[in-house]
Amino acid sequence: MSENMYTQPMLKEGSLDGKVILITGGGTGLGKAMGQYFAELGANLIISSRKLDVLENTAKEIVTKTGRIVLPIQCDVSNYDQVENLLKVSVDKFGKVDSLVNNAAGNFISPTERLSNRAFDIIVNIVLKGTYNCTLAFGKDWIAKKQSATVLNIVTTYAWTGSAYVVPSAVAKAGVLALTRSLAVEWAKYGIRFNAIAPGLFPTKGAWDRLLPGDLAEKLNPVKKVPIGRTGEHQELANLAAYLVSGFSSFVNGEVITIDGGEWLKGAGQFNMLEAIPGSMWDEIEKLVKNVKGS
Ligand code: HXC
Ligand code: NAP
Repeated sequence: MSENMYTQPMLKEGSLDGKVILITGGGTGLGKAMGQYFAELGANLIISSRKLDVLENTAKEIVTKTGRIVLPIQCDVSNYDQVENLLKVSVDKFGKVDSLVNNAAGNFISPTERLSNRAFDIIVNIVLKGTYNCTLAFGKDWIAKKQSATVLNIVTTYAWTGSAYVVPSAVAKAGVLALTRSLAVEWAKYGIRFNAIAPGLFPTKGAWDRLLPGDLAEKLNPVKKVPIGRTGEHQELANLAAYLVSGFSSFVNGEVITIDGGEWLKGAGQFNMLEAIPGSMWDEIEKLVKNVKGS
């Protein structure tokens, strides 16, 4: 078995044949990686975001590689009218949409007291409002047409821990997680399944430029926080996403799957700092502890 199987496609050929999948923020980064793999597995795609030129280039690239249909649509997810148009154009073109991947996001690091109310709004409007706008528009349509569907929401591990310096994003991602778990129950009766992925460190230009600008990546060396000792590969995230939008995961509902090499748990466990103790010191420590008498 190859050492780096995680860089390879996982699902069998044709696993997404006949599916139509919409990925918000599908022109760049992880959205693009998921789209590329979904198309390899047989899906036709709609990719949307604010920058049409970026979407068109990505669409061309995926079509050339896979021969599938990829429809780029300009849409700011924080604007409900634009989301309704996204739904209309998608259904006009394909007749149906089987899966919605709420991947679009905005984020940057900043001490919270430096933020204007507009800066806070902009992030929450993309991440939380964008996710519920798309979910509501597409959900109403699926329910009206009695069509089953899957929704995959891309969150972060600080959706449940919170995180300093990215507070608008943390607040918004926590809301997306609550939406995922709430509708997994409420809309299961309509055949609509909801899951989420919480990625750890997956290098993308969009995230790195805003979260580790300049030489911060070198200075802070965030990989130090990852027990597995590396960042994520886009293919391994795409593998997980493909599984969650496919029929193979049809009994998985309301779940958030973390793919972070153990990063958030390393920050959480109270004695995880004992990693710093060299193996040679453990005989001495054991002796000290065993010699403790009484209470
Ligand atoms: C403080 C800032 C700021 C900063 C912008 N603002 N950047 N405030 N520090 N670094 C303020 C502006 O001053 C303005 O407020 C308000 O935010 C809106 O800024 P605009 O530049 O006008 O907004 P816009 O052009 O719409 O750009 C939105 C954006 C931008 C979110 C600021 O970064 C963007 O387009 N991002 C999209 C892609 C992205 O962010 N990808 C990363 C996802 S990574 P005022 O009051 O001055 O008008 C991710 C990973 C998480 O989520 C986990 C990783 C491990
Ligand atoms: P990215 O390339 O910057 O992706 C963000 C995408 O969102 C862009 O394509 C952007 O396109 C789109 N977008 C932003 N605002 C939008 C709006 N108002 N309407 C529609 N689209 C909008 O960053 P990424 O790293 O791939 O992030 C993808 C997802 O993974 C995000 O949900 C992020 O929170 C999550 N994530 C990433 C990491 C990581 O390590 N990379 C870790 C945890 C979670 P336009 O600018 O053209 O609109």
